[in-house]
Amino acid sequence: MNPIKTCIFPVAGLGSRFLPATKSIPKEMMVVVDKPLIQYAVEEAKAAGIERFIFVTSQGKTAIEDHFDSCPMLEMALRARGKVQELSLIEDIKLNPGQAIYIRQQAPLGLGHAVLCAQELVNEDAFAVILADDLVLADHPCLQQMTQAYSPLEGNMVGVMEVPYDHTNRYGILKTSQDADGQKIIAEAVVEKPAIDQAPSRIAVIGRYILNSQIFQHLRTQKPGAGGEIQLTDAIQAMIPRGLCGFRFQGQRFDCGTKEGWLEANMAFAYADPQLKDHLKAMLDKYHF
Ligand code: UTP
Repeated sequence: MNPIKTCIFPVAGLGSRFLPATKSIPKEMMVVVDKPLIQYAVEEAKAAGIERFIFVTSQGKTAIEDHFDSCPMLEMALRARGKVQELSLIEDIKLNPGQAIYIRQQAPLGLGHAVLCAQELVNEDAFAVILADDLVLADHPCLQQMTQAYSPLEGNMVGVMEVPYDHTNRYGILKTSQDADGQKIIAEAVVEKPAIDQAPSRIAVIGRYILNSQIFQHLRTQKPGAGGEIQLTDAIQAMIPRGLCGFRFQGQRFDCGTKEGWLEANMAFAYADPQLKDHLKAMLDKYHF
């Protein structure tokens, strides 16, 4: 049985790499094909058996709350017009009463600080964190793969993938000495955004975590790290004596916090959609891509 029932969604960042799109629209509400990023994230969490959804928001992010709430006027109008399919689409998005919890990070002090903001709401030994702007296209949802492989005895678990050496300065990077079964990697250390010539490997952490709630003790006293922010990676590093397992997920990850990654995600998700695939191919032909 999956013991992970709570997931934190930090959605309080500035999204400055995607301005001006994110000036008044939360980055996590950016749409890939036909759904906002945060909906993909919540669907992934639901598929993994998550029952409590904690959103760490900030000013200007109320569109996220509205997205998972009832919308009586729209529902009434769709019902009156017999738009049954559209109605079920928006009804499926809703989270049940009490399932969604919204709290605010009052200043964008970093991902670690955003997670710390949720500490009073986490009652379990372990919980998940999903960064919605890291979108994963997979046959089996990424967090589900992780919860199935998770063992508390191995310590914290992070989703990982290999990146080119010249990209290592964009990620938390694992230091490893053994590669247990290829899918699980026992880490000796994790370094946030190392200089390229100092990266201990090419194994990069993506925005999927299963963390022991003792992480809050470390986050409470954590000093700002890379970029002057309270880094989640630094708290994970402080817990290394309790173990850190990198999990090589099956699937393709897109950094939708950047224009390039978002564009690529749209292509890949459209291509994976049987109703859009042929249209996409025809469109690429039309423009001689
Ligand atoms: P990013 O590192 O992508 O930062 O955050 P950002 O501020 O959103 O975007 P840029 O770098 O300015 O373009 C990764 C995730 O952590 C959340 C973000 O909302 C995103 O989901 N985050 C980051 C917070 O919730 N609070 C923070 O202080 C920083």
